[in-house]
Amino acid sequence: MGEGHLPVLVEEVLALLDVGSGSSIADCTVGGGGHAERLLEASSPDGRLLGIDADRAAIAEAQRALARFGARVVLRQANFSDLYDVAGDAGFLPLDAVLFDLGLSSYQLADPQRGFSFAADAPPDMRFDEERGISALELIDRSSERELAGILAAFGEERRARRIAKAIVAARAQGRLMSAADLARVVADAVPARGADAGRINAATRTFQALRIAVNRELEVLPPALSGALAALRPGGRLAVISYHSGEDRIVKRFIARESRDCVEEPLPPVCTCGHRAQLRSLRRGIVTPTAAEISRNRRSRSARMRVAVKLAPASA
Ligand SMILES: C[S@@+](CC[C@H](N)C(=O)[O-])C[C@H]1O[C@@H](n2cnc3c(N)ncnc32)[C@H](O)[C@@H]1O
Repeated sequence: MGEGHLPVLVEEVLALLDVGSGSSIADCTVGGGGHAERLLEASSPDGRLLGIDADRAAIAEAQRALARFGARVVLRQANFSDLYDVAGDAGFLPLDAVLFDLGLSSYQLADPQRGFSFAADAPPDMRFDEERGISALELIDRSSERELAGILAAFGEERRARRIAKAIVAARAQGRLMSAADLARVVADAVPARGADAGRINAATRTFQALRIAVNRELEVLPPALSGALAALRPGGRLAVISYHSGEDRIVKRFIARESRDCVEEPLPPVCTCGHRAQLRSLRRGIVTPTAAEISRNRRSRSARMRVAVKLAPASA
């Protein structure tokens, strides 16, 4: 295994999800099976794991990596926004532990045909599920310069979104944008890196992130996925979410904060009329981040932030 395939924050995931024999676990982003393998070891001899991934190739990879666990593993190609139904159909309800390790896997990044990487000669596709939705190249084709700038600003927090969008639209019209590598080049030419940025991160990093988030509707599918996880957990069950950019971490933070409150009216009234009751309690008071040792072993972990919460027992009337 190369360094890119090391599961991120794995010791912290194991300690905080607290799985053991008999646990019913959902790994909603099973990818290459890195976290899943450790969760299955920690829940031996009879814990069961439902591995979900939108990507058919990831499911095949996980099947290979987890074959030794036999019937303890069930794999499903699905969007994690359907977690509750998928877990129900597979006989996994209620769950003791749910893990989301969001975003892109190193297998996807390394596959030149998927167009996730700056060097890929293939068209920028960037879909996790290649059978649904539109590719990044189609998104570029269908978007106006203004819409494209909006995507880059909203999902990539790209300060130079307008200049980059203009260059992309021009390159496309001139037939100069066929591959992911072309896209990276067009962005680099439009916004040459200066000063401290030069050589540190690729100029196209934020553009690629923004297009990937847009084509996979990553911020739209997260709220229903978190609600599904909450509904699927048994009281005392635990939820862990690892995010790699601020947009998704903000959604997770707000979800846990809201579900940790008894009344969600704003401003708080003297007497609650909304009837909302706290269903979660945050563990570790917020965020868990990788140690310096992990970051030096695995650079991909450097932007990781994990939030963990436990589901509360319903309050007795
Ligand atoms: C960071 S990787 C997971 C790596 C995995 N934890 C491991 O240790 O090997 C994220 C995975 O989540 C999948 N994914 C992203 N969004 C998804 C969604 N909405 N539904 C299902 N899978 C998704 C991606 O296809 C990718 O394989």
